[in-house]
Amino acid sequence: MTTMQSQPVELGPELTRHALSLALAETTDMADDILRVPLNYYNDDKLADIEESTILRRAPLAVLASAQIPNSFDYVVRSVIGDSLLITRDRDGQAHVFLNYCRHRGAMPACGAGNSRKFTCPYHAWVYDNKGRLKGVPGAAGFEAIDRDEYGLVELPNEERHGFIWAVLTAGAEIDLDAHLGPMNAELARWNYQDFGYHDERSLTSEVSWKGALEAFAEGYHFPFVHGQSIIGRSTLANTHAYDEFGDHHRIGFPFNWILDLQGTEPGDSWDPVAQMGIIYWVYPNLILANSPVGVEVIDILPEHSATRCTVRHSWMAKYPAQSDEQRQMYDEIFSQVHAAVRDEDFVMLPQCGQGVRHGQHDHMVIGRNEIGVQHMIRVMADKLGVSLQ
Ligand code: FES
Ligand SMILES: [Fe+2]
Repeated sequence: MTTMQSQPVELGPELTRHALSLALAETTDMADDILRVPLNYYNDDKLADIEESTILRRAPLAVLASAQIPNSFDYVVRSVIGDSLLITRDRDGQAHVFLNYCRHRGAMPACGAGNSRKFTCPYHAWVYDNKGRLKGVPGAAGFEAIDRDEYGLVELPNEERHGFIWAVLTAGAEIDLDAHLGPMNAELARWNYQDFGYHDERSLTSEVSWKGALEAFAEGYHFPFVHGQSIIGRSTLANTHAYDEFGDHHRIGFPFNWILDLQGTEPGDSWDPVAQMGIIYWVYPNLILANSPVGVEVIDILPEHSATRCTVRHSWMAKYPAQSDEQRQMYDEIFSQVHAAVRDEDFVMLPQCGQGVRHGQHDHMVIGRNEIGVQHMIRVMADKLGVSLQ
């Protein structure tokens, strides 16, 4: 069965119907053809430089979940492709993304995360506020000639939407989320991620291409082999993808085993696709949102100084923010299980693929018709990079 629909299936009983039909027929949505991918797509450090300038510093990236800085004066410092970013929420509730580099001589005014009205640079104690404004200069007589308004932290183009703070990592560039998200805009709006409760985050570094790592979240072909012993393998049908494209982004429904119980029933509450399948989005270029009935895993993957090394940030947000210790404990348990699957299953496997693209002497990789989501990722990236595919 091939789906290259122009219109994605709506996130409702129609999606469940489609996934059920795939499950019953023991098939999957498929691409029209196999795809051959040259090894240098994954292993070439020169291509990695082009990726950084044409993709990662040009596209809006979801640099933080809004729920990580819910209150005024909350802040988080994080590194994104080598840049230290200071992400704040100001007195008025507005989020900001700054380059965390002091305008005096470049030290980093903020570190860690917390709630603070000001950030004092550790080198000569220049002080900045949550709007990035320079508020204090010790020994001010030495700097009488400068207009302080011109020496605030450099703010990157940013916008908060759908429960995330998005930024373009190029000062002075435009941020156009409507154009970037396209049809994914309305799709993300359906989830109300802005009302979710942030729970926890873990990160890891892995010796695999960031693009190769993302691909592990775009197919269920590997489920029985890599996740056979864990919750993913036990609860999800192998190699079954209800696939929909949203421009440069996509959605895959991975049906749970119990979807087969719907056979012969009429659409009703139990046909809610969220209850019947894992729904995973790829938001170009580097964000994975893996939804379950209780929450969402937020996974962002970026290169780490090499074509075949990446950093993975894995966090989890609860659909209903925890109100009690008991609930928090339950969420801890859920997150540690899903994180273990990523860390101990996918990312035990994936460095082998990193090794394969560094040392393999075959000409190309081959992506199956069943790996329709992987094909989409590769086609979108290759198109932006000007890499030709067969
Ligand atoms: S480098 Fe920040 S105060 Fe000097
Ligand atoms: Fe996996």
